[in-house]
Amino acid sequence: MVADVALRISSDYKDREPVLIGVLKGAFIFLSDLTRHLTISVTVDFVRATSYGPNISSSENIRLTKGIEIDIKNRDLLVIEDIVDTGLTLAFLYDYLRSFGPKTVKVCTLLDKHERRKASTVIDYACHVVEKGFLVGYGLDYAERYRGLPEIYKLKF
Ligand code: IMP
Repeated sequence: MVADVALRISSDYKDREPVLIGVLKGAFIFLSDLTRHLTISVTVDFVRATSYGPNISSSENIRLTKGIEIDIKNRDLLVIEDIVDTGLTLAFLYDYLRSFGPKTVKVCTLLDKHERRKASTVIDYACHVVEKGFLVGYGLDYAERYRGLPEIYKLKF
């Protein structure tokens, strides 16, 4: 799935050099695999927005705990998410990134989870769509655990 989405992105961004904005922490494995599959040049930066505490319910109180460090004015941005759930984090990050005057902002997520969507966020690239469940592995955690699992699992409570 990662190779397939990398192929689409490489074709859509041919002759451009997008900035991949990895959303920490969950997207770190997906981003590193994705960048190695791309056939175009990219710049990479990271942001971190916390919305989840040690449990699985989304506090709608999103905070930016790490901002961008490079100049993104007039650049093509591709936000790289691990999973979009309510969409509130993405909506928050979209507004934050827009405030720097980029040329375009698009979104690529490993997982697009529909069950609890609240914000009408546009997702340009989704590797896989899931209806519900709490997923861990391949960068995704539950209370900071399971990120290192090489595949994606649904947590049983
Ligand atoms: P949203 O703001 O509700 O869309 O939440 C986005 C963030 O919540 C993601 O970037 C993840 O860090 C976390 N998240 C949402 N659903 C899951 C899940 O099923 N497993 C692990 N983390 C999740």
